[in-house]
Amino acid sequence: MYRQAHYDEDFLIDYNTGSDYLLEEENCDLPENMKRKSLKLPNLRSFDVSRHYTKLSEMNYSVDVGMYPLGSCTMKYNPKYNDYIASMETFTDVHPMDYGMNMQGSLEIMYNLQEYLKSISGMDCVTLQPSAGAHGEFTGILIVRKYFEMRNELNQRNEIIIPDSAHGTNPASASMAGFKVIEVPSDENGLIDLNALDAAVSENTAAFMITNPNTLGIFDDNILKIAEIIHKNGALLYYDGANFNAILGITTPGIMGFDIVHFNLHKTFATPHGGGGPGSGPVAVKSFLKDFLPVPVISKNEGGYFLDYNVKNTIGKVSSYYGSFAILLRAYSYILKNGNDLKKNTQKAVLNSNYMADQLRKYYTIPYKKLKKHEFVLSTENTGKRALDISKFILDYGIHSPTTYFPLIVKEAVMIEPTESSTKKEMDFYIDVMKKAAFMDSDAIKSYPINTSVGRIDEVKAARNLIMHW
Ligand SMILES: Cc1ncc(COP(=O)(O)O)c(C=O)c1O
Repeated sequence: MYRQAHYDEDFLIDYNTGSDYLLEEENCDLPENMKRKSLKLPNLRSFDVSRHYTKLSEMNYSVDVGMYPLGSCTMKYNPKYNDYIASMETFTDVHPMDYGMNMQGSLEIMYNLQEYLKSISGMDCVTLQPSAGAHGEFTGILIVRKYFEMRNELNQRNEIIIPDSAHGTNPASASMAGFKVIEVPSDENGLIDLNALDAAVSENTAAFMITNPNTLGIFDDNILKIAEIIHKNGALLYYDGANFNAILGITTPGIMGFDIVHFNLHKTFATPHGGGGPGSGPVAVKSFLKDFLPVPVISKNEGGYFLDYNVKNTIGKVSSYYGSFAILLRAYSYILKNGNDLKKNTQKAVLNSNYMADQLRKYYTIPYKKLKKHEFVLSTENTGKRALDISKFILDYGIHSPTTYFPLIVKEAVMIEPTESSTKKEMDFYIDVMKKAAFMDSDAIKSYPINTSVGRIDEVKAARNLIMHW
């Protein structure tokens, strides 16, 4: 039986240790009414802090505790050796403004990572700066914008086409960069409807933004045809790299005809998810877009590695320094450690996903017939229960809920991505609990979870009425 700890834990600022942090009387010229007697800082003992965070961790769930099959968000295990490497003093003691020889090692790593990402994506140039997948999207779309601006076509090319199965950050990035978003529907197989795409593309199209496999976990075999439609029209093809875990080592966006790609390093290369930053979302482009990359890029000449600001029509900077260096280090060490096994990881991720889909098909509806890649989407509608109730129920067994209610084109959607890091035993346990959920009484299930540190919350209130503490 799973039981999560529960503490009525105060914020550290509310710890009452009986003393306040008093300021010493100092001679200074500030007016009396502006002088503070106390800093209102908590005066804490080190074990107060240690106990506080230990208690919070006992009330929490993480990839260190168990399986975390968030479809699309990809929570694979983050190996500890990556953390070890990222915390080595050789890296933590280098200041980002130390442009001298002390930086050479760090620059070499970033340069090599750029090279790896190029060959993994089949692209020609890379920036490591963006701090999340969504930030990478925004950077990529700014590059689209600059490309058409330089061709004096921006006034005309003001639309970006996006499929109805897309992640919400895609239309958000496009519209933040000043484009009008045009949605195209999926066909009966969950793929891009080519006729609808043909009808949507026009002289106003700047780019088509897609992920392949898409958010249903289905690979679109028409991708070369799609690339042809888009390029014939003079527009660009953008690859949302969130689903790279399904293709790494097998094919590349370059082969598929894409012009711009973002990576979500946390999804594919086992780094922590930044939750919008500071994660890492590098962007790779074909050579004809090289002159628009953010500065600096990391380059190399006879003198060694250097920060290259010589990018003719750069979109400018999108992050301080060179991006999230500690995350880049983890991704680099993951790539080096796995080497040729990266392809095996992909194959295992796809196998795991299809194993789970096949087992869960007995209890739930799995829409769209095509073979799934690294993730799949099921609907709980046939059970008469809501996706929300199913996913809250399984928390009580010590396993994390999958992604729910996404993509929007599936009713009562549950999206599962076991990744290569799940074992058969873990998956079988998950399947077993999902089976129990399917047969639970429709009213009784609404009172779950019972054994977690926090039960049902008012989700709408939690989203709409934010009370922030920091
Ligand atoms: C398909 C897809 N695109 C983009 C994103 C945004 O990535 P990030 O969370 O790194 O900002 C996600 C996030 O889960 C995603 O699933």
